[in-house]
Amino acid sequence: MSLAGRLSGGSKSEYLKLIETGNMDSTVNVSLAERSYPIWIGTNVLANQLHQTQQLLSHWKHAVVIHDEHLASVANQMVGALEQLGVRSDFIKIPSGEKSKCVEQLSMIWEQMLQCKADRKSVVVAIGGGVVGDLAGFAASTYMRGVRFVQIPTTLLSMVDSSVGGKTGINLPASKNIIGAFWQPHAVCIDTRLLNTLPEREYNSGLAEIVKYGVILDAEFFSYLESNAFGILNRDADALNKIIARSCELKASVVSADERETTGLRAILNYGHTFGHAIEATTAYGTYLHGEAISIGMTMAGHLAAKAGMWTAEDLRRQTDLLRGLKLPVVLNEPIPTIDLLSAMRSDKKTEHGELQLILPNRIGHVTVVKGVSESDVIQSIDANRA
Ligand SMILES: NC(=O)c1ccc[n+]([C@@H]2O[C@H](COP(=O)([O-])OP(=O)(O)OC[C@H]3O[C@@H](n4cnc5c(N)ncnc54)[C@H](O)[C@@H]3O)[C@@H](O)[C@H]2O)c1
Ligand SMILES: [Zn+2]
Repeated sequence: MSLAGRLSGGSKSEYLKLIETGNMDSTVNVSLAERSYPIWIGTNVLANQLHQTQQLLSHWKHAVVIHDEHLASVANQMVGALEQLGVRSDFIKIPSGEKSKCVEQLSMIWEQMLQCKADRKSVVVAIGGGVVGDLAGFAASTYMRGVRFVQIPTTLLSMVDSSVGGKTGINLPASKNIIGAFWQPHAVCIDTRLLNTLPEREYNSGLAEIVKYGVILDAEFFSYLESNAFGILNRDADALNKIIARSCELKASVVSADERETTGLRAILNYGHTFGHAIEATTAYGTYLHGEAISIGMTMAGHLAAKAGMWTAEDLRRQTDLLRGLKLPVVLNEPIPTIDLLSAMRSDKKTEHGELQLILPNRIGHVTVVKGVSESDVIQSIDANRA
């Protein structure tokens, strides 16, 4: 049985267990031998989670809290919480936005860590979305050849995607995420209350990755998303707890099977991303948020799969309706020349020897890696999904 089949088949009882626990706190364990770690999920539970973190980390006496500038109030709340635990803390504020994933910010963090006498036993605590998580995680992986790292993700995307799997890194002006390291956190504390202040567009963008998990691995989860779209859009605590926990479980299962992207299994997480990355690159990362580009990318990939007879038109309709229902774009409304998109797809980091490889669905809950996809099919699926 394929990986997707094994994961979606083997996880049913866990899924039901999750549904039954309601909005109680959930824990997802990421199994990676000695690098295994828990993801704690709950609402209004940050102080408890920090307490749990301290019990997990031996000799935690010093925290370097690296936070997004928009999360200063959360960082402030940490001062007292850490003090109560007997942990000395230093704070580093990072300007919000992708530009901060750069050598200059990284070097500033290293300098400040040195100044505040961070040592091998210090723990880097990242508070923010994927930008701060990736940057702080990379700083943690390199300072004194690696110090411990805890994530407090604050965007939906970082809760369900970037905080699971251990990829950390920064950008160079010419290439995104080109410098980095695999560095697993020791714990991830998810407090869904932090999502209350997240702008609607950012929140909806994170939903695209959640739909992706349903399409690639779990038909039952996909149905749950269809039936609960209203509560999800309204950030209902119960729905949030379930969709975040299930998404983390699904990503964790894939990561556990292919931690360093060596066996190819992790590639299924790239569903919709070859099209999506090309859309982001050809619009200079300024028009669409990542999840929005991925939503259009999944629609294009889904269209291609339907044309090729790999999955049914009905499955494609369900995917499109769900994405639309979650207020995500499903058509390209920028006049990007198809040839530019195609060329960006060919130079995507995940493309091997210029051969187009796509993750395509066979049915909701199952995908296949397809190599050597014809350019004319790709062109057709781009042009069929324009506004
Ligand atoms: N490491 C991985 O596996 C992985 C996976 C996916 C994406 N990423 C990376 O993640 C980054 C994108 O992450 P993101 O989408 O979380 O964006 P982000 O970190 O830029 O956050 C988006 C915006 O929301 C603001 N914000 C964050 N939390 C908030 C809150 N609770 N309330 C109000 N505002 C808040 C931020 O200041 C920022 O303006 C990219 O750099 C991408 O490469 C990494
Ligand atoms: Zn993504």
